[in-house]
Amino acid sequence: MSFLLPVVVLTGLFLALAGGLIVAERVLINYGICQIDINAGGRALEVDGGQTLLSALYGEEIFIPSACGGRGACSYCKVTVLSGGGPVLPTETPYLTRKEVRSGARLACQVKVREDIELRIPEELLNVKLFSATVERTISVTHDIKEVRLALLEPEEISHQPGQYAQVRAPSPDGPVFRAYSISSPVYEPRVVELIVRLVPGGIGSTYLHNVQEGDTVTFTGPFGEFRLNEDPQVEIVCVGGGCGMAPMRNIIYSLYERWPERACWLFFGCRTTQDIFYLDEYEQLAREHPNFRVIYALSDPLEPGEQWDGETGFIHLSVDKHLEAGVKRQAFLCGPPPMIEAVTRVLEEKGLRPDDIFYDKF
Ligand SMILES: Cc1cc2nc3c(=O)[nH]c(=O)nc-3n(C[C@H](O)[C@H](O)[C@H](O)COP(=O)(O)OP(=O)(O)OC[C@H]3O[C@@H](n4cnc5c(N)ncnc54)[C@H](O)[C@@H]3O)c2cc1C
Ligand code: FES
Repeated sequence: MSFLLPVVVLTGLFLALAGGLIVAERVLINYGICQIDINAGGRALEVDGGQTLLSALYGEEIFIPSACGGRGACSYCKVTVLSGGGPVLPTETPYLTRKEVRSGARLACQVKVREDIELRIPEELLNVKLFSATVERTISVTHDIKEVRLALLEPEEISHQPGQYAQVRAPSPDGPVFRAYSISSPVYEPRVVELIVRLVPGGIGSTYLHNVQEGDTVTFTGPFGEFRLNEDPQVEIVCVGGGCGMAPMRNIIYSLYERWPERACWLFFGCRTTQDIFYLDEYEQLAREHPNFRVIYALSDPLEPGEQWDGETGFIHLSVDKHLEAGVKRQAFLCGPPPMIEAVTRVLEEKGLRPDDIFYDKF
């Protein structure tokens, strides 16, 4: 055990030194006011140096996606820094390909503003807004999933694409954090935003949303995300979800049938047990109204004694494989845990879908 002592002492010294440097940077070094130039003169900002690029942009109401709340764990906050961002940090390299590094991609939550910065961000992010809304109702749809319906206060309307998401601000002991939640209400209801939230035990954002009460005010930014529905009505739509991955699918399906009542669309939804099934009755009704809509739920866990289920069983990618014939022009939207996304993507590629036609959010 004696060999452990030097290791513990060295680690302690290293941590103390790193902590000291962080505090010294915060307290002693004043970077003054720095200029941020966005999209070659499109927007010019003056911000206090010393903060992260993500915070500096947030302070100017430019909302970059940050699904992990700035912890350097999601890579959603990628921006292109053309000059002034300093060297790429070890906390960024796992999320950046060599090509991205060469083109200046950086994680905005890891870049510190220490000098003037030239930045490029997608134009649509400049239109992302901060919304306040009141909780209109909450409904438990399963033992761990709640539907939360928000009526917008300011601005009164949101314009989003089916499958996009919002970032909800949740209080935490260390200050507010943001968490991403897909918008489940359809695009033709611009005055509301509905969310479908699975409770993660001990999770900050999901616990907050599971406890909001009717009349509470909720703040969020949005819309974010790259899901874009193909406008060609001949292209079949395939939605595959699991758990709270239902939210974007619901938006896509209802928005789709409002606009193209005849369009072909599949919903494959994976649940573990019958306890996890929700919205199935509603989708079966929708399928009666729109004969080109097919809905398939599958249970992955074996049935418990006394549990009734005459639908499909097994992992959802097996159902996708079983039902979809190859060679049809399709676009697919996938939402759920990473192993599900990977397995379904493989099946869809075997059926002839190109990577560009497969959109996904892993969570
Ligand atoms: C684009 C996008 C869209 C999303 N849409 C939805 C949605 O519609 N509905 C929804 O419910 N969620 C959605 N999520 C996930 C959501 O953003 C949060 O990550 C999730 O609610 C957990 O956040 P939290 O603050 O409750 O937990 P945290 O406080 O972040 O985490 C608490 C602990 O739980 C662990 N943990 C975090 N997430 C999970 C998980 N999924 N399963 C198990 N353990 C976990 C963490 O490692 C940590 O130890 C989406 C995520 C992304 C990136
Ligand atoms: S906000 Fe998640 S990596 Fe930057």
